[in-house]
Amino acid sequence: MSPGDAVHIDAPAKINLFLKVLRRRDDGYHELDTLFQAVDLCDEVTVARAGAGVALRVEGADVGPERDNLAYRAAAAFLEAAGVGGGLEVLLTKRIPAGAGLGGGSSDAAAVLRAANAVLGGPLEAATLHALAAGLGSDVPFFLGPGTLARGTGRGEVLEMLPPLPELPVVLVLPPVHVSTAEAYGRLARARAEGGGTSVSIEGAADPGAAASTSPSVAALPAGWADVARDAVNDFEDVVPEGWPEVGRALAALRRSGAVFSLLSGSGGACFGVFGDAGAARSAAAALEDQLGCQVVTTRTRVGFPRPDTRR
Ligand code: C5P
Repeated sequence: MSPGDAVHIDAPAKINLFLKVLRRRDDGYHELDTLFQAVDLCDEVTVARAGAGVALRVEGADVGPERDNLAYRAAAAFLEAAGVGGGLEVLLTKRIPAGAGLGGGSSDAAAVLRAANAVLGGPLEAATLHALAAGLGSDVPFFLGPGTLARGTGRGEVLEMLPPLPELPVVLVLPPVHVSTAEAYGRLARARAEGGGTSVSIEGAADPGAAASTSPSVAALPAGWADVARDAVNDFEDVVPEGWPEVGRALAALRRSGAVFSLLSGSGGACFGVFGDAGAARSAAAALEDQLGCQVVTTRTRVGFPRPDTRR
């Protein structure tokens, strides 16, 4: 990678502090009402100009075929939209576990869009970047920043940036399962159709499937962590622990660990607990690792979004 034209950027993971799945839309997606919170666990993305096309190198994990990778697709979509000559070389260093509900692939894609725009001198406007991001995945726009706490509606791509809450420690528990997002949505839809296993997420709707997207269920935007803890919910907890029992065990253990509150993140399988102080988080993490025998990561909520760093 030629040092003159490389831009490096951290791509943070997210947790969902609140996640309600509302009606299924005609396009097959579900309306969501969610709170995204960026955390300090990051992948790293470096983008440089190259001769032609996209070349992706991934370190730290086996992420499958290059062209299926969201980072690759982000670079290709950027080049097409920007209409600039030449290509892009992308180096991705993975630390965020994949298929965990932590948004790693989505964050990588957004970081590629931001870094590509920086390395090529900013050919694309923010609105175009947002549209490209939404085309790549429902979670991708959140990772463009600049907020580290945002309410997501629509299919997750309609964002309202919220002022950051004070930084708190977070313990991530990563059961050794891969929860397919599409399968988790499918299970939730079936459970609701059968009238079982559903939380009453669409209050007042005679027919849950018909609930209006304009009446989201979040009570009020959080003014502090106490509000977040009070409203903490994730509708996927109705079906994911049942389908993936390791997730149920992780959640149960987290709920006994002294966390202020614990939830499944996204459609899982990662679960997290938010702690009041770093010491409590560290001892809970050690105990959870012993008890569950799975990967446990201690991180913290972010109050600022990572900025591109030009390497010269
Ligand atoms: O947008 P993304 O590619 O991340 O979505 C993966 C799958 O998750 C979709 O194909 C869809 O089945 C489901 N999904 C959904 N509603 C959303 C987001 C995702 O039904 N809001």
